[in-house]
Amino acid sequence: KIVSVVRGTGSVLPERVMRNQDFAGVVETSDEWIRQRTGIEQRHIAGEGETTVSLAETAARRALDAAGLAPADIDLIILATATPDNTFPASAVQVQHRLGITGGFAFDVHAVCSGFLYALTTADMYLRSGQARRVLVIGAETFSRILDWEDRTTCVLFGDGAGAVVMEGVTKGERDGEKGILVAKLRSDGAHMDKLYVDGGPSTTGTVGHLRMQGREVFKHAVGMISDVIEACFEAAGIGPEDIDWFIPHQANRRIIDASAKKLGIDLAKVVVTVDRHGNTSAASIPLALDAAVRDGRIKPGDLVLLEAMGGGFTWGAILVRW
Ligand code: ACO
Repeated sequence: KIVSVVRGTGSVLPERVMRNQDFAGVVETSDEWIRQRTGIEQRHIAGEGETTVSLAETAARRALDAAGLAPADIDLIILATATPDNTFPASAVQVQHRLGITGGFAFDVHAVCSGFLYALTTADMYLRSGQARRVLVIGAETFSRILDWEDRTTCVLFGDGAGAVVMEGVTKGERDGEKGILVAKLRSDGAHMDKLYVDGGPSTTGTVGHLRMQGREVFKHAVGMISDVIEACFEAAGIGPEDIDWFIPHQANRRIIDASAKKLGIDLAKVVVTVDRHGNTSAASIPLALDAAVRDGRIKPGDLVLLEAMGGGFTWGAILVRW
């Protein structure tokens, strides 16, 4: 029996930082409003030449370095994004080429803020079936490029960035065989499309479009959906909130994060928070937070880590992984 084990993590943020104060002259808002409602203090915005693919490549190289592996060791790349460089080919294939990988295969997964969890779950399937041995799973976004910079209800919330993990299939019981992905639960419900969507696309308007959101409606559903799917994970694994070492939620809003942890009975000291510095980076938010907590020494071998996300679609999900 094969399990999917994490071998390394990496991430990158664009150089340009946009603080809440920097919205002066862009839209009518204030540092106080943004902080109180969201917990966000700053976000990173991609500059000229920085794209989803370029950020993904850097995050991938850092994850490979952390894993002590070379690009040629990878036989599958799954990249989660809602902001690809091109409608096609997939950004994953462009990253594959930039890394100089000529074997294996690569594709994108599109589940917006839940994209990284969908990609990780898909990687787990390929590894456990033996179709792949080592997978690069990437979440990369440049949401700044699909924001309506005249809409203060959305443009203050998002940022750009990328994160990656290298996953390896290991036979259970052998070295590291007790580690890896224990449970993954994914959900979606297209009835909620009007609450969070992009008002353009190749087959409708022929334009890229802009992000539109009914923030209060999203907020209303978020905590319930997040708690339900996490409780399903706990039940499947036969564990409770006290068994979790680190909770890494999707970083959309500090109030959603705190309310979810409270509802589930997870100690706030175990919650990894980056939304204050990164804003909402959609599919990149979990691997960015994961990499931060690995590199600063919080996440250690043997820790039980809970990942959670919810976003456009709606899509949502949770994964339990033994580090
Ligand atoms: N600056 C100042 N005022 C603002 C701003 C702004 N940036 N944006 C909205 N306002 C005003 C509104 O116009 C409104 O004014 P009014 O009362 O005169 O009409 C007032 O602030 C309150 O607006 P609400 O939308 O009701 O504010 P709310 O408390 O719901 O906070 C927010 C808005 C932060 C978007 C919140 O609803 C939220 O976080 N929702 C979750 C959305 C989210 O995180 N989505 C991310 C993707 S999905 C996911 O990842 C979970």
